[in-house]
Amino acid sequence: MLPKLILSLLLSPLQYCLLTVASDPDPVQDYCIPNPRFNPNIIRTHKLLSSILPCKNASEVTAHDFVFSGMKNFVPNFSDTGLSTISVSPTLFPGLNTLGMSFSRAELDVGGINPPHFHPRATEIAFLVKGSIYSGFVDSSNRVFAKVIQAGEVTVYPRGLVHFQMNVGDKPAMIFGSFNSQNPGIQKIPAAVFGSGIEEELLEKAFGMSSRQIGLMRKRFEPKKAK
Ligand SMILES: *[C@@H]1O[C@H](CO)[C@@H](O)[C@H](O)[C@H]1NC(C)=O
Ligand SMILES: *[C@@H]1O[C@H](CO)[C@@H](O)[C@H](O)[C@H]1NC(C)=O
Repeated sequence: MLPKLILSLLLSPLQYCLLTVASDPDPVQDYCIPNPRFNPNIIRTHKLLSSILPCKNASEVTAHDFVFSGMKNFVPNFSDTGLSTISVSPTLFPGLNTLGMSFSRAELDVGGINPPHFHPRATEIAFLVKGSIYSGFVDSSNRVFAKVIQAGEVTVYPRGLVHFQMNVGDKPAMIFGSFNSQNPGIQKIPAAVFGSGIEEELLEKAFGMSSRQIGLMRKRFEPKKAK
């Protein structure tokens, strides 16, 4: 008991420090277009490594490196919850590397939802371009802040807090989201809980559900097997 207490006292200032530096590192140069000779997947998987990825020689950088055109011809391909998104991160738009920001465009079909999820490394500011959505987030005391917003309105989802959207209008909705991290990360609550392989007994006890009910949830949220 006592050693545990001492350990937690020793660790708590450390945790505080880790929290206060938990954002993208400051750039140490104007930009760093990753050198295509190195594997671009490193950007996706290693947030910190991304800032020390070898950059393209500045003499080879052009205006094209700072323009992403892939959103122009974006055709929504709705998921079974009626959501279609494109995440403009350095993986798609290498010019963003080291700049501490990223972007997304989401389309919601009529009645479609963006299920409860959160971004561990970024606050999101979202602009509703088209349509009408029920949108909100839940704070760490489980208070929900949600309302219907209309095209032209801007909302914000604080970093690490669960948030959600549902199209309540009669035509598809379009949302632009901007993140203060080049790699915000996303954790979808249903898939994290029921699709990750947590022991069934624990889920039954946590949710007061029967084995059959858990089975149904698992079937719905387990990752689709690659064919
Ligand atoms: C970058 O390119 C310039 C011009 O071609 C060249 O002089 C310089 O040596 C290069 N730098 C590196 C680190 O390769
Ligand atoms: C749409 O999404 C489905 C599954 O998410 C995928 O199998 C399909 O290839 C996608 N279609 C297009 C045109 O991207």
